[in-house]
Amino acid sequence: MSGSVWAVVPAAGRGTRFGAALPKQYLLAGGRMILAHTLDALLQHPVVAGVMVVIGGNDADWPGWTEAAGKPVLTCTGGATRADSVLAGLLALPESVRADDFVLVHDAARPNLAQADLGRLLEVGRMDPVGAILAAPVRDTLKRAGDDGGIDRTEPRERLWRALTPQLFRRHQLARALQDARGGGVEVTDEAMAMERLGQRPLLVEGAEDNFKITTPADLARFEFELSRRTA
Ligand code: C5P
Repeated sequence: MSGSVWAVVPAAGRGTRFGAALPKQYLLAGGRMILAHTLDALLQHPVVAGVMVVIGGNDADWPGWTEAAGKPVLTCTGGATRADSVLAGLLALPESVRADDFVLVHDAARPNLAQADLGRLLEVGRMDPVGAILAAPVRDTLKRAGDDGGIDRTEPRERLWRALTPQLFRRHQLARALQDARGGGVEVTDEAMAMERLGQRPLLVEGAEDNFKITTPADLARFEFELSRRTA
């Protein structure tokens, strides 16, 4: 499969769960912003041509990058939900990105993406008519809680996966799916969910468990540990 792909990186969340003054993608890990690590992970891949970073409307902390790893870094303004921000990013991509070109969507707060996983997603996903997502099989036993916090039952975990990012879809199809979900008042929590609503069946590509999203201070400490292992 030849040709390059652009990536949309939603970074317009306020990260209120983290509890820091700065949005979490601007916190430092190993002396660099989490977002810098995330963009590097994407742009280091030779197939990735550039990134569209979707930032908050009154984001005073955006460092103003216009390129990274010698490739363009563009920005646009996001919306109230992650899905709105991704849609804004898709619509703001350069005209050179055609309607049926594949586009990656990757969380700003997921800096520990392995090149091998990104490579496999691109390879497998671009062979599929719909697209694909990185995902990891559920390994823990799952419990359904009752109102009182007691266990109602154990849910079978066979064939259950945790959806990660990047997710790879065609620009126009994904934009249409996100618009349709919004029109239907459905809040989709990832891109695949928007595609599934329209009857599509994206592929699951197994990725490393440690492609985690930084949500809490413990996640940041974990990423710092991963970075120290990389350079050790
Ligand atoms: O809040 P959560 O961690 O699920 O957000 C996932 C990604 O979506 C983050 O990178 C966040 O900045 C982004 N996001 C966004 N616009 C929003 C909400 C979240 O770009 N309105």
